[in-house]
Amino acid sequence: MCGLLCGRRENPIGVAPDRVRFSWKVEGPLPRWRQGGYQVLVGEAPGALEGLDLVWDSGHVSSSNSTDVRYEGAGLLRSRSYFWKVRVFDERGAESYWSDVASFEVELDPHQDWHGEWIGLGRESFVMDPPEGVGPVDPIRNAQAPAPYLRRSFGVEAPIVFARLYITALGLYEARLNGRRIGAAVLTPGWTDYSQRVQYQSYDVTELVRTGDNVLAVVLGDGWYSGFFGFQAKHAGAHYGERPLALVELVMRDASGREVRIASDGSWRSSTGGIRRADLLMGESFDCAREPVGWDRSGFDASLWAPVCCLPRDERLLVADPGPEIRITEELAAVEMRSGNDGTVVVDFGQNLAGWTRLRVRPGAPSHVRIRHGEVLAEDGSLYTDNLRAARQCDEVKVYGDEFVFEPCHTFHGFRYAEVSGYPGELTAGDITAQVVHSDIPRSGSFECSSQRVNRLYANIEWGQRGNFIGIPTDCPQRDERLGWLGDAQIFARTATYNRDVSAFFDKWLDDVRDAQLPSGAFSDVAPRLGLDWGGAPAWGDAGIIVPWTIYRMYGVRSVLERNFSAMRAWMDFVAQGNDGYLRSANLGNNYGDWLAPRRDETPRELLATAYWAYDAQLMSEIADAIDQPEAASDYRELVGKIRRAFDEAFVEPDGHVRSDTQTAYVLALHMGLVPDALRAAAARNLVRAVERDDWHLSTGFVGVGYLLPVLSQNGYDDVAYRLLEQDSFPSWLYTVDRGATTIWERWDGFTEEGGFQSPEMNSFNHYSLGSVGEWLYRFVLGIEPAPGAVGFEQISLRPHPGGSLTSARGSYESVRGRIAASWERAGDMLRFSVEIPPSVHGRVHIPSADPGAVREAGGRSASMIADFPGKLGVREAVFDVGSGSYAFSGPLPDFLR
Ligand code: BGC
Repeated sequence: MCGLLCGRRENPIGVAPDRVRFSWKVEGPLPRWRQGGYQVLVGEAPGALEGLDLVWDSGHVSSSNSTDVRYEGAGLLRSRSYFWKVRVFDERGAESYWSDVASFEVELDPHQDWHGEWIGLGRESFVMDPPEGVGPVDPIRNAQAPAPYLRRSFGVEAPIVFARLYITALGLYEARLNGRRIGAAVLTPGWTDYSQRVQYQSYDVTELVRTGDNVLAVVLGDGWYSGFFGFQAKHAGAHYGERPLALVELVMRDASGREVRIASDGSWRSSTGGIRRADLLMGESFDCAREPVGWDRSGFDASLWAPVCCLPRDERLLVADPGPEIRITEELAAVEMRSGNDGTVVVDFGQNLAGWTRLRVRPGAPSHVRIRHGEVLAEDGSLYTDNLRAARQCDEVKVYGDEFVFEPCHTFHGFRYAEVSGYPGELTAGDITAQVVHSDIPRSGSFECSSQRVNRLYANIEWGQRGNFIGIPTDCPQRDERLGWLGDAQIFARTATYNRDVSAFFDKWLDDVRDAQLPSGAFSDVAPRLGLDWGGAPAWGDAGIIVPWTIYRMYGVRSVLERNFSAMRAWMDFVAQGNDGYLRSANLGNNYGDWLAPRRDETPRELLATAYWAYDAQLMSEIADAIDQPEAASDYRELVGKIRRAFDEAFVEPDGHVRSDTQTAYVLALHMGLVPDALRAAAARNLVRAVERDDWHLSTGFVGVGYLLPVLSQNGYDDVAYRLLEQDSFPSWLYTVDRGATTIWERWDGFTEEGGFQSPEMNSFNHYSLGSVGEWLYRFVLGIEPAPGAVGFEQISLRPHPGGSLTSARGSYESVRGRIAASWERAGDMLRFSVEIPPSVHGRVHIPSADPGAVREAGGRSASMIADFPGKLGVREAVFDVGSGSYAFSGPLPDFLR
């Protein structure tokens, strides 16, 4: 057994009681093995798992499930370690060995376990209440305020055997114990709607506490709480409050079990230091002369520091961070450095990313060094920053002759290039690196094919995800926006689930989505909501249903459905209001349509909205079934039927035309099951004609693009899907690749055909939405797809769709049951396909061929069935039943590939 997770995280410290759910994988190779049952044991010590002193024994449960298994024992104590292990049984009842032991700790009781107050810089007055919408604060002053430094010294008498630090901030914090930075997480505590929910991190600091004098130190930043964020041009900063504050609870136990607690209270001292200002959009300034040396260790004289200001805790919910930590995951070296005439040096890191630069200033003259960050260069080679709008992305450091390594802690930038000015002496490549920062989400997918340009596209999709999954899924990491747009998230969610295990990440963000839901039941356009009361937009609000369903489908995490079900129902009720005729024409909020469709968006908004409503209803019926709500399921099924009929009447013509004749209209109608079966073939043909009319270019915006290639491939038009994939004139994915893109752009022509950039008002070079084609690369090019209706890849349907100019493709997906790999190549007249399937997974392999009867598995097995291949009309496929194991097949190439 391997991959033991609790709450979809490895050995979490701080997990909510309702998120204590266990997952595991069975290690192969175990040919054709399937799980028939499991047994989970939980105890208070690893040793207890051997004996009778158990907290919970699930007993032998007959089930093939291995994700999201709920803890059903007695109440768990807070701030205690628990240990667990699992064994599994095969279908005949034979047991496996026991897994290794994993652990978890339940989060604090929000009402009883916190003893501290919110503390911040002394000698200041504070406004505690979150302002309504926009803060009454002067944002410029705020962005220029020095960071609060807080410290508390304490003595420890006996050796400590258990120490946990629970810490959060309204704002950002970085914590240190005896001069050592605690944990690897950055930008903590992350972003939530701080007026409702504040998440904290929980750290094991047992090794850092020492007998004798200790110092706990915290540096605060404005972050999302009180700094610039969102549309800064329109709204001043300080969305939630005026000044950052910290809340701390350090719990220590010695060998005798005696407990000592250090909480944030009036005994802490405060001052300011080297960080003169720090802001997420604007950047950070550090002055070495102002840094109090040794302030975070014992022996420092803090007698001149002011007592902190204290504010009582209030109604805000305090929760353990359920998501993955935001961390520095990679360091990139400069690939090119160019000096300008004005003494600046422009550094190219070769990759657009989110994070910051780390700069070593060598000994020399006192200097004021500035580092500005941007995604692209202007024609004259200088840094282009117009598209950042009001964001400045500028870090500064003042040095006085000594060597110093500068790295900001309370900001992040979206950039590929850095422009350094004021550097003392000559800046060399060894002096500066880019630190890549994002939610550290385990990688689960890989993809590689014979086209280097498509490989670059795939890499751009992955980098787009990395640059934008920072605590929440944002639209972009660079300009004054960086918001959790629901539309972007829903269209990209499926791709995201293949690239990385985003189950915990999205589970956390769905908390934000629920917090942001409007009293009307409308899901908002962005979550967290930041005081904007926008909601109800088709294809945006629908994320509240599509995202939980995608997480369930891909990972089998049923609890995500349970947690969000009542919010989803409220959304369905909201959508139904005013739409009595089952066409969704009222309650459409900002109604963005097929956002950023190239040239013109001609898809009727009512059509798009109604299609999404039908899709929601369809998914709701499946969701209700999955969580045993049969009545709700049948209500939603009935609703689907009504919306379909209304849609057909309003938009589908008897010859299979869908009104407006746009690609997006066909794609939505086909994907969302809105074209009667008898007309599907005609509608698909009409979609192809629409593509042809655009000279084999796509004409979809954010909304249509996600399903475009899947719909073509499912309806017999792989050739058209490949043609669009490999198209390289505007608008197309390879148009951006050929212009040097290293991430997905917001617009198909961020850099226009005429030369020059699109309007700086909206021209991000790191927006993941149009990267939703990633799902097609996994599902169709590689053919890694769950079987229809299957959950968590228990049943698979491995069906490669070879085509275009590709001669081979290979890749893998680390599913919740283990690694699924697929690779195919054209070898002369033959098509070879090999797959790897993990234990407990079974299903079918489908291979298109000119002569399916001649397709053989290595060893001689021939197909158990011959069927129609959905990727190309008139082509047949060989079908093999498979269980876990490795298989290789080969057969005559289908004619269309010859
Ligand atoms: C964002 C998009 C978002 C859109 C809503 C833009 O400003 O960057 O990604 O979905 O607004 O229409």
